[in-house]
Amino acid sequence: RMTIDYREEDVTLGDGSTVSLRHPTYGVADLAYGPLGEDTTLSPRIANPMIGLGLVQAIEPADILAHADPDDADGDGVSGRPNIVSDTVTGEVKLGRFGWKAQNATIHDQSVGAMSGDIGVSSPDAPNPYGDCSEAEAACLAMPTGVQPRLGDTEAPDPVMELITFYAENLAVPARRDVDDPEVLRGKQVFYEAGCTACHAPKFVTSREAENPAHRFQLIWPYSDFLLHDMGEGLADGQQVAMANGREWRTAPLWGNGLTEVVNDHSFFLHDGRARNRTEAILWHGGEAQTARDNFANAAKEDRDALIKFLESL
Ligand code: HEC
Repeated sequence: RMTIDYREEDVTLGDGSTVSLRHPTYGVADLAYGPLGEDTTLSPRIANPMIGLGLVQAIEPADILAHADPDDADGDGVSGRPNIVSDTVTGEVKLGRFGWKAQNATIHDQSVGAMSGDIGVSSPDAPNPYGDCSEAEAACLAMPTGVQPRLGDTEAPDPVMELITFYAENLAVPARRDVDDPEVLRGKQVFYEAGCTACHAPKFVTSREAENPAHRFQLIWPYSDFLLHDMGEGLADGQQVAMANGREWRTAPLWGNGLTEVVNDHSFFLHDGRARNRTEAILWHGGEAQTARDNFANAAKEDRDALIKFLESL
């Protein structure tokens, strides 16, 4: 049984107003199979939005790598490192782009990993039908599997993963709303001036050689550089994932951000959903994002409100 304890802590903004942030502590109670290993880390996640993924996959690696500045050569306090991972199908070394730590290079890999690890369904590239049940979980390993020999050797034989991957690749990005609203335009200016675009890179043009013709040569606005950034101690989970260390997270794309409540029925943000709204999400930014976060915290109330209005228009 997972346990979550939240401790509220007030943060004072430049104009003296306060915002309460909830600090989570995660635990596991009533362990049924003995103690956890000493090096176990707990890092809960909410689901990533699933829009525009095929377009993200269609960006040339060189265009993403052009934003990387691992040694902060330009001295702006923001570095950005690529996560380099191996393709589970071909074994090729590739640029990671999907997941909270950019740990998957392709939508296929992300989907196969989720089918296996999150819901325990086997497929040709992850053929173990017990998902991540360990040797200690004898009852799990004694259960019948969902393999139906007349259909194939795994629970999701071809072409199931292909269809799921195709679906995930083609969920559209919603159109922006209120683009000409003066407050939204003011908020856009604040977003640029505060330094948010150092990581939330507004736009890319997809490759002319993308596999799916529908994804080729398109101007897209994901508001992410798809790189890893040290976000400070407050957000650190201590968990190494491929090359991402325990303080690094992939810049969350912000397209579609304004429709979070409509799609998810909640407005929780950041990898574990600790932020209850957009203001809290920004105030949690630390590490490489400290300057941008402080610019927001010290901005006039009208400017902060306008920035949130801009995020809601995405
Ligand atoms: C140094 C890079 C960096 C800068 C600068 C930065 N961000 Fe972020 N942003 C991130 C990362 C990385 C995450 C994901 C962190 C996590 O999930 O723990 C994130 C997450 C967010 C989220 C939550 C999105 C979601 O889907 O959960 C919002 C909103 C956001 N940023 C807005 C801003 C705004 C507004 C600014 C400028 C004031 C800003 N960010 C500056 C890197 C940055």
